[in-house]
Amino acid sequence: MQVAIDGPAGAGKSTISRAVAKELGFLYIDTGAVYRAIGYKAGRLGIADEDEIVRMTQKTELTIELQGGDQHILLDGEDVTDRIRTPEVSMAASRVSAIAGVRSALVELQRRIAGKSNVIMDGRDIGTVVLKDAEVKIFLTASCEVRAKRRFDEMLEKGQDADFESVLKDMQERDYNDSHRAASPLKKAEDAILCDTTDKTLEESVKMLKDYIEREFEKYVC
Ligand code: DC
Repeated sequence: MQVAIDGPAGAGKSTISRAVAKELGFLYIDTGAVYRAIGYKAGRLGIADEDEIVRMTQKTELTIELQGGDQHILLDGEDVTDRIRTPEVSMAASRVSAIAGVRSALVELQRRIAGKSNVIMDGRDIGTVVLKDAEVKIFLTASCEVRAKRRFDEMLEKGQDADFESVLKDMQERDYNDSHRAASPLKKAEDAILCDTTDKTLEESVKMLKDYIEREFEKYVC
């Protein structure tokens, strides 16, 4: 069984997907981490040329591992799980993810992981490209201001320096980049349902998705 969850940054995809996957006993895969790892490596090596970034991606060894139920990402054998969660890496990930050669190099890896068990996979092109045949497809969204506020609160909670206006500006820029790129832009798959979490708490959103996924699965079990 495959569940594809797509949507813009900050819609709550990873928090909600992780919670629903836990309740249903599914594997949860956050595909943003692979783009973040490539963006991080390009920045660390100071590579800006697109062809060079594609060559670098093809030569990069990326592994997704589960450690105590949490996803860890290994970049050429080095665990970079925490280091890829900075605003700089978010922007770098958005930039490298617009390069078609980078995307094609990473799609196979994502499909291989999804083939291993019942999975909930989140990203931007899961329902439209990576898992086109997923049994359940959800497009999760919320207003840009609410998404920026959630990200801002999250940063404060982690004790990070944060300024709401710049979080909002980054969010708008990423939304624009992710949905206007030529290669697999962020968009709702025709057969996905739209879930708007603007006015919902985390608990309400988790319940809404879990109930929907269970109802959909009943159709396949019969
Ligand atoms: O979900 P995230 O914020 O960690 O993703 C980081 C960037 O990676 C995001 O700006 C767009 C890109 N991305 C993508 O293009 N396709 C995916 N399946 C997942 C993420």
